[in-house]
Amino acid sequence: MSDLAAELDFALSLADAADAVTLPRFAARNFTVDLKANQTEVTEVDRGTETVIMDIIRTQRPHHAWYGEEHGSSDDAETSEYTWVIDPIDGTSNFVRGVPVWATLIGLVHRDMGPVLGVVSAPAMQTRWWGVLEDGAYCNGHPISVSNVASLSEAHLSITANDLWDKIGKTQHIDNVTRAAKRVRGFGDFWQHMLVAQGAVDVAVDAVGLEPYDIAALIPIVQAAGGRLTNRKGVVDWRANTAISSNGAFHDDVIAMLTA
Ligand code: IPD
Ligand code: CA
Ligand code: CA
Repeated sequence: MSDLAAELDFALSLADAADAVTLPRFAARNFTVDLKANQTEVTEVDRGTETVIMDIIRTQRPHHAWYGEEHGSSDDAETSEYTWVIDPIDGTSNFVRGVPVWATLIGLVHRDMGPVLGVVSAPAMQTRWWGVLEDGAYCNGHPISVSNVASLSEAHLSITANDLWDKIGKTQHIDNVTRAAKRVRGFGDFWQHMLVAQGAVDVAVDAVGLEPYDIAALIPIVQAAGGRLTNRKGVVDWRANTAISSNGAFHDDVIAMLTA
C-alpha cells in the first residue's frame, strides 16, 4: 500500500502545476478552440495542461500508470497497482465562454480499491477541494463534511440532466426527483458534487455520458466527506457514465425513484 499522504502532496503539486498553466490562459482569453470527434470543444490549454501533468507523473511516479482525457493512457493502466486519472479541464465549455466554473480533476485509482484520492482544483474560483479515503475531505485546507438533511423533501438538489436521460427513458423519473426536492438549481460539472461534499447542496444528479476521468477524482472527496457518489443504479463505479452524489441519508430513495 502506497503512502497516501505522500501521494496527496504529490497530487497537490500536480494541481499547482496545472493552475500555473490554466489560470493565466483563462484570464488572458488567448487560446485556440477545436471540436473533437464527439463534437465537444477542446482548447490548446486542455491538451497542454494534460501534457504538463503527465510529464510530471512519468518522471516522479514512473511505477504508476496514467490515463487522461486528451492523450490516452499508459500501456499498464489496467494492470498497475495505481493509476492517475486526469481531466485537465472539467468544464471546458465554461472555460471557453469565460465562466470561472472549471477545474483540473486529479484522481488516484487503486487496482483493487478503486479511487482512493482526489483533488479538484478550480483556480478561477480560488477554490481547491481534496479528499483521501479514511483521512477526510478538505476545501482550501478546511475540513468539510456533507449536510445532515434527512429527506429529499427537505433537500437542495442540483441537477444537470441532458437529453441522454431522455434517450434512456428516464425523463419522467428525473422530473419526479426534481419535483420531490425542496429547491432545485443546476451548478454543473464537478461543482455540484463538491457542493454536496461541503454540505451546501444535499444531492446532485449529473448528465448521462460521463467518462471515468469525469468521476474518478470526485468519488474519494465525496466519500471522505461522509457522502455517497454512485451511478444511477446505486453502484460505486468510477467507470460509469452517470453520477449521483448525496449526503447519503436519502441516496437510496433517489436511486429508487430513478430506477422505478
Ligand atoms: C464534461 C463535464 C460535464 C459532463 C460532460 C463532460 P469536459 O467534461 O464533465 O459535466 O456533463 O459529459 O464531457 O468536456 O468539460 O471535461
Ligand atoms: Ca470532464
Ligand atoms: Ca475535460
